[in-house]
Amino acid sequence: MENSDIQIHPSLRTIEWKDNKVKMIDQTKLPNELVFVEYDDYNQIADAIRTLVVRGAPAIGVSGAFGLALAALQSKAITKENLISDLEKARKILFETRPTAVNLSWGLEQIMKIAYSESTVDQIRESVIKEAKRMADEDIEINKTMGKNGSKLFDNNDTIMTHCNAGALATVAYGTALGVIRATKESGKNVKVIATETRPVQQGSRLTAFELKHDGFDVSLIPDTAVGYSMANGLVDKVVVGADRIVKTGHVFNKIGTYQVATMAKQHGIPFYVAAPLSTFDMKSNAKDVIIEMRKGSEVTGIGDKKTAPDDINVINPAFDMTPPELISGIITEKGVVNPPFEESIRKLFEAN
Ligand code: MRU
Repeated sequence: MENSDIQIHPSLRTIEWKDNKVKMIDQTKLPNELVFVEYDDYNQIADAIRTLVVRGAPAIGVSGAFGLALAALQSKAITKENLISDLEKARKILFETRPTAVNLSWGLEQIMKIAYSESTVDQIRESVIKEAKRMADEDIEINKTMGKNGSKLFDNNDTIMTHCNAGALATVAYGTALGVIRATKESGKNVKVIATETRPVQQGSRLTAFELKHDGFDVSLIPDTAVGYSMANGLVDKVVVGADRIVKTGHVFNKIGTYQVATMAKQHGIPFYVAAPLSTFDMKSNAKDVIIEMRKGSEVTGIGDKKTAPDDINVINPAFDMTPPELISGIITEKGVVNPPFEESIRKLFEAN
């Protein structure tokens, strides 16, 4: 484990393959410490996903892929059949960590396809590592392209609201929603950001505010309860958020509270955009079949070690919610922006790619 001075890091890379280990930022320590952890066991990656050391849909997709690469190295198998069996066991453990973001099963699937396609154990080990590294690098390229595509929707002097963290910390680097904001600034436009706190895990205050401040953005933090106030008082021009899963009808699953932000945006006539790569689309499931992760009550009954609710209180703590397509102005992808009606435009997007 290595402790680093936040000031000396010019940009954030969340996950990296280094010397046959996976190096990642421990996001549970932010914003107070920028700490990197290194893992050489896929079970540690599964724990890291479960405990939010790494989080955000694209980041857990790539983490799953790296987890399988570690599993290939850990396996003592000397036949293809045994190595595949060890990889399938690791895939199951990694898959069961979090249910909502489809990027995780996508990342695992990509690696398993490569593993099945090779003939020998040496080829499998080499190819899965290469593929996981390629996926990590590709994630950054996709985010940059998505950013450029989305930047055209934003104007000079816009104030953009975002919810949760869909930034460098939710991806390998650069971010999806925050990638769009980055690209807008890089295109020469002046933008300000309003970040919601995003209770209960506070990805907005702990991660988005940290990441944007780290990169020199003009960012203001608001409590989640001030979304309506900010919009009603003309403080917000546009909204952009990320996604954990988008189904073929255009229903978007994202961090709990996204639905409230989208509803408020509609109420105030403020454009509400979603930025997500094609790997976040689930063309097989229906909205009603998507599992919303329910997290432990202690995230709600306290802040850090401080108790903020009575003992034994019943808690409902869904980690995600669903925003229906009628609240969404456009979905920004690396292949362009899709507009309503989404069922048709998403179908065309996938037919063309
Ligand atoms: O519980 P988290 O922190 O993994 O939730 C993350 C989000 O909801 C993000 O908005 C989403 O994954 C998009 S990240 C580019």
